[in-house]
Amino acid sequence: MSNVQADRHVESDWWPHPIPGNVEFGEGFYCETAQIFRHLKSRTPGALILGAHVSCYAGCSFAIGPGGHCTIGDFTLLNGALIMAEERIEIGSHCLVSWNVGIADSDFHPLEPAQRIIDAHALAPFYKDRPPRPPLRTAPVIIGDNVWIGMNAVILKGVAIGENSVVAAGAVVTKSVPENCVVAGNPAKIVKYF
Ligand SMILES: CC(C)(COP(=O)(O)OP(=O)(O)OC[C@H]1O[C@@H](n2cnc3c(N)ncnc32)[C@H](O)[C@@H]1OP(=O)(O)O)[C@@H](O)C(=O)NCCC(=O)NCCS
Repeated sequence: MSNVQADRHVESDWWPHPIPGNVEFGEGFYCETAQIFRHLKSRTPGALILGAHVSCYAGCSFAIGPGGHCTIGDFTLLNGALIMAEERIEIGSHCLVSWNVGIADSDFHPLEPAQRIIDAHALAPFYKDRPPRPPLRTAPVIIGDNVWIGMNAVILKGVAIGENSVVAAGAVVTKSVPENCVVAGNPAKIVKYF
């Protein structure tokens, strides 16, 4: 059972489009609206794989780039997360991801000032001398099973979070987190072990 119909439209959805064909989902998938897939740019089959009994509420957004992949494990709930995958983001099973959480496997712009000017020119749609974008740095984000990420937290490129750990509300996670602990603050530090 699911609230997604055979034609991949969500029941009673105000968004007119179906769930894109390259999104796979397991039984019991709950989707509040297919609008959450409006930033899915990848056309690769299986670019986004959602497990059984995953719940995705309306504040979510899956910004999966042309070469990006994302997997979400069974029974994970995403209340309003922005998932930005240029390479790979994996979220385990039984995770709780709260309102306004940002998870990104890239910074999306170069750090070096001259390269950033080139990037700004490349991103100006009506600029006649648009250069190609400088290459993006990416590093996968891997989140273990039963991780709870509090509201407004940010998880940056290359971070792994061990199973059962908790990210406090508003934390900015720049480095990997072991299992069975709580991290808080900016940049996030361990404040407690279970
Ligand atoms: C600022 C930023 C670009 C720096 O990237 P970077 O140069 O690769 O940074 P590093 O991962 O090497 O981290 C360098 C140090 O800064 C800290 N740091 C990095 N980003 C931080 C952040 N957002 N808040 C607090 N500390 C941060 C790291 O913990 C590290 O600390 P240390 O020297 O004590 O070990 C990046 O961390 C960031 O914030 N990216 C998000 C960009 C964004 O919002 N993009 C959205 C699309 S526009």
